[in-house]
Amino acid sequence: MATTRATKNKLALFFVATALVSLALYFLARPLRHYLASHMTAGSSPDNLAYIPELILWAILAYLTVRALNAFIFEFVFRVRKGYEAPTLVRNIFSIVAFILLFILIFREIYPGVNLGALFTTSAIFGVIIGLALQDTLGNFFAGISLHADRPFQVGDVITVGEQKHLTGVVESMTWRAVKIRTFQNHIVLVSNSSAAREALEVCPRDNLNARLFFFNTLYTDSPAKTIHIVREAVRDAENVSAKVTPIVRIRDLAESGIDWEVKYWLEDYAKYNDSDALVRQRIWYAFRRAGIQFAFPTRTLHVERRAAAREEHAPGQDIVERLTAVDIFAPLSTEETERLAAASTRHVFAPDELVIRAGDAGSSMFVVHSGRVQVQISENGKPRAVAVLNEGDFFGEMALFTGEPRAATVVALEETEVLEIGHTAMKLIFETNPDLVESLSWTIAERRAGLTATQQDAQVSIEESAGLLASIRRFFGMK
Ligand code: CMP
Repeated sequence: MATTRATKNKLALFFVATALVSLALYFLARPLRHYLASHMTAGSSPDNLAYIPELILWAILAYLTVRALNAFIFEFVFRVRKGYEAPTLVRNIFSIVAFILLFILIFREIYPGVNLGALFTTSAIFGVIIGLALQDTLGNFFAGISLHADRPFQVGDVITVGEQKHLTGVVESMTWRAVKIRTFQNHIVLVSNSSAAREALEVCPRDNLNARLFFFNTLYTDSPAKTIHIVREAVRDAENVSAKVTPIVRIRDLAESGIDWEVKYWLEDYAKYNDSDALVRQRIWYAFRRAGIQFAFPTRTLHVERRAAAREEHAPGQDIVERLTAVDIFAPLSTEETERLAAASTRHVFAPDELVIRAGDAGSSMFVVHSGRVQVQISENGKPRAVAVLNEGDFFGEMALFTGEPRAATVVALEETEVLEIGHTAMKLIFETNPDLVESLSWTIAERRAGLTATQQDAQVSIEESAGLLASIRRFFGMK
């Protein structure tokens, strides 16, 4: 909207200016020439000076024509044919050359007797002065031409200028004088074309998968195979990490305090690498926490005073027992059974937006939300659709655990979320003493299944469906 208005204003301005100059040329040029010629004193070449206003008016007209041509060729023809806007430098060079040519033509027409070439070549002093004054400008100008011909980088690329790598940012524009870079502190820095052409440049093109490296370490007691798996999975799910290339996790060194690692991952949008690096570090921390892997620090032997058992307010796992007691499907369990279930469950913490369950994966455990919230999602036309949000005390993952089928949906943590994982064996023991539990679970599963496939109004659960589920759960757990 705003652009169309601006274009209309520009067009109107162009036509008004052209009309005014043409009118001035038509009506004023000749009387002015006569007036000047008749008022000039002898000796100041009256004929030549009398034509100056005319020359100026023609030059303005030439300037307007060049602007119009420039806009037509580069904003219309170039964009339509090439699909992108022409570089400013090319446009400027076009304007300068076209204007000089037009001006020479006009000059020759008005002053046929004056030899322009001789005027410039004989004026050596003029040349030296111009040369000295424009030394830097011309340097930048020609460096700019070579940069454009070479095209080592384009607008939107991330570049680092200088051997010391002191300047990194996203290229915003390239003019005849300088390259404009927006640094990651949101500062604008102008690097003159001649320095950009002289200095070492590191270019991370926008349409390229650029890689990042992150270094970390682990204790010697942690298994390298496990570490590789955990880190790879944690990093590949992070936002902006490209799904096209699997992250590489490798050992750099068996160092003094532990194993030194590097993880290499490729970014979709390199201009956001600061955020992506931070997210990758965060994901690794959480993944380590869940897997029980520890970062290595300089090793020391410390004698630590043991915490007095009397100071502990709750027995370990008491909060888990309380949580499981509040879960509706476990309500029929005796205190002893709930305690057994609590002892058999494992707690895991997930970062906000982190995947807890991926649809289609195999699964042999279920989860109870201990703190935080999760969202159940299914994929619809390649995009995730939220099916439900589960809060503290809700459970999920029961479908795959009780039927042996792949995970029916994806579950993502909405905030930092702690879940309690309960495995197949623990549930089997509970079923043996509480066969009624299977029935209430089969209802929940049938209800959730209907919620996954159906629209709201036909999310009905049939008795047969639930009975079928009941039978298949019994079979799966080897119950009669
Ligand atoms: P499971 O198939 O093992 O893994 C994905 C889980 O998402 C699934 O078990 C259920 O626990 C949960 N789930 C699926 N559909 C729904 C739903 N409609 N409402 C709530 N939770 C659901």
